[in-house]
Amino acid sequence: MLSQKLQDALNEQMKNEFFSAYLYMAMAGYFQNEDLPGIANWMRVQALEEMTHGEMFFKFLCDAGGRTNLLPVDGPQNEYKSPLDAFEYGLNHEQFVTDRIGKLMDLARAESSHAAQIFLQWFVTEQVEEEANFSLIIKKLKRVEGDGRGLLMIDQELAQRVFVPPAAAGA
Ligand code: FEO
Repeated sequence: MLSQKLQDALNEQMKNEFFSAYLYMAMAGYFQNEDLPGIANWMRVQALEEMTHGEMFFKFLCDAGGRTNLLPVDGPQNEYKSPLDAFEYGLNHEQFVTDRIGKLMDLARAESSHAAQIFLQWFVTEQVEEEANFSLIIKKLKRVEGDGRGLLMIDQELAQRVFVPPAAAGA
């Protein structure tokens, strides 16, 4: 059984994950409007992944005997100064999420909730990958700064990303 405090924290993180989906869909809209459909595709796939992250919190709360509480989701930023600005904003957001997951893990440990710790372990690993993905694209964007052809090559590369549900990915 999960304590009320832990349930509240899990519900808060479920909201953060659904907000992430909303944020990356907003970025997909920005890239679509900038005529960069490949980067828009990457962001849409990212948004779909975030939906599955939110759903994983929903399922864990249900399975562990907790009560789900869907909290209001803020409106995301829709406009960005440049592709680099959007990815830097995204990395900043992922660092925030990493911090929240870390604090959730601390709480699960303090309450000796072994089930919550095992559940959260997947997210600890996932956040390393999330930050690495954003950081790598930021490096590429910095390298091609001001070079339109370079940006189109990144657009073509990011067009290749396809959505793989976490279960199928081995989670
Ligand atoms: Fe679900 Fe991007 O963290």
